[in-house]
Amino acid sequence: MAKPPSAPAPFRVVLAGCGGITQAWLNHAAQRPDLEFVGLVDLLPENAAKIQKQFELGRARIGTDLAEMIRATGADVVFDCTIPAAHKSVVLTALAHGCHVLGEKPLAESMADAQEMLAAAQASGKTYAVIQNRRYLDNIVRYREVIRAGQIGPLTTLNADFYLAPHFGGFRDAMEHVLLLDMAIHSFDQARYISDADPVSVYCHEWNPPGSWYAHGASAQCIFEMTNGLIFNYRGSWCAEGLQTAWACDWRAIGQTGTARWDGEDEVQVAAVVGSDGFFRATERLDPPSTPQLPYHSHAGVINEFVESLKTGRVPQTVCTDNIKSLAMVHAAIASAENGRKVMVEY
Ligand SMILES: NC(=O)c1ccc[n+]([C@@H]2O[C@H](COP(=O)([O-])OP(=O)(O)OC[C@H]3O[C@@H](n4cnc5c(N)ncnc54)[C@H](O)[C@@H]3O)[C@@H](O)[C@H]2O)c1
Repeated sequence: MAKPPSAPAPFRVVLAGCGGITQAWLNHAAQRPDLEFVGLVDLLPENAAKIQKQFELGRARIGTDLAEMIRATGADVVFDCTIPAAHKSVVLTALAHGCHVLGEKPLAESMADAQEMLAAAQASGKTYAVIQNRRYLDNIVRYREVIRAGQIGPLTTLNADFYLAPHFGGFRDAMEHVLLLDMAIHSFDQARYISDADPVSVYCHEWNPPGSWYAHGASAQCIFEMTNGLIFNYRGSWCAEGLQTAWACDWRAIGQTGTARWDGEDEVQVAAVVGSDGFFRATERLDPPSTPQLPYHSHAGVINEFVESLKTGRVPQTVCTDNIKSLAMVHAAIASAENGRKVMVEY
């Protein structure tokens, strides 16, 4: 009798950076039978040891040097959960040692670094994708479907409000352009996802409001021109106490015949015009199209798509060659904020 096919060997994974965000990764990744954690790398080995204990990764080695760890373990995948300033060296090291990489946002601290990392990924033939967990929410998929199905007509304007007041402590408190570089990448990437449009230009005003507990740039407002003439407005602050929005922003999409709102959480509302006369045309509420529930959400959604892409060869939606467009929105907004002028978004 033929032997049943044995399960393929799991991917051998080294995790670089064992700080706060690793919880969101390992809650899913540590449970997957197709991933084996063979190494935990952190500049502070005690952080790696904490993660090792918490997620029962006793078979993973602990170290401080990524290249050495990849060589010692024969890893084929690196998960990059380090701080933004370390992403370039981690990703280049991983690619140079023949590993696929899934890394935390933002892809890089500068466009020059991002281009170098993209070129290295393309030359290596390995996959480098970035975590954009806010694409993996049932209601963002539903909201996008409102627009794709034409319920509000061709999209003309997209607004996102982001008002929160987290007191993180740590690297963000001292970071330049903290809202734009560390956070707005999520909202800008969501705007591309929702609108199916890419950035063309931006005017951005960034400031640090009195009372801010950040050293730089806790608030920003941006006007993006997108492909198809769409205008995307972003208003954000990381020091806005009270009546906070969702992390996924509060959204208003205006089409030629209607409007759709999403509160970034449970509520998607659609209203479209039905009358053809009167001072205000009559409108009616529409049910948004129903969309299938995602198999995995947030970080688990990105990780699952990445792992499946390695098995099937299907390109993950947050692959670096696409994600650089969202990063380019961030860096163009920063350039505009610094020089006070409208800036073309180049990638
Ligand atoms: N996707 C999300 O929703 C989300 C949320 C929070 C943070 N993040 C991102 O995750 C990343 C990490 O953020 P965090 O909040 O976990 O930070 P953190 O400071 O809690 O953890 C970072 C860890 O990386 C280690 N480290 C730094 N440089 C290193 C290097 N060169 N090699 C190995 N280890 C190194 C630090 O010692 C620390 O343990 C950032 O890029 C951040 O933007 C994403």
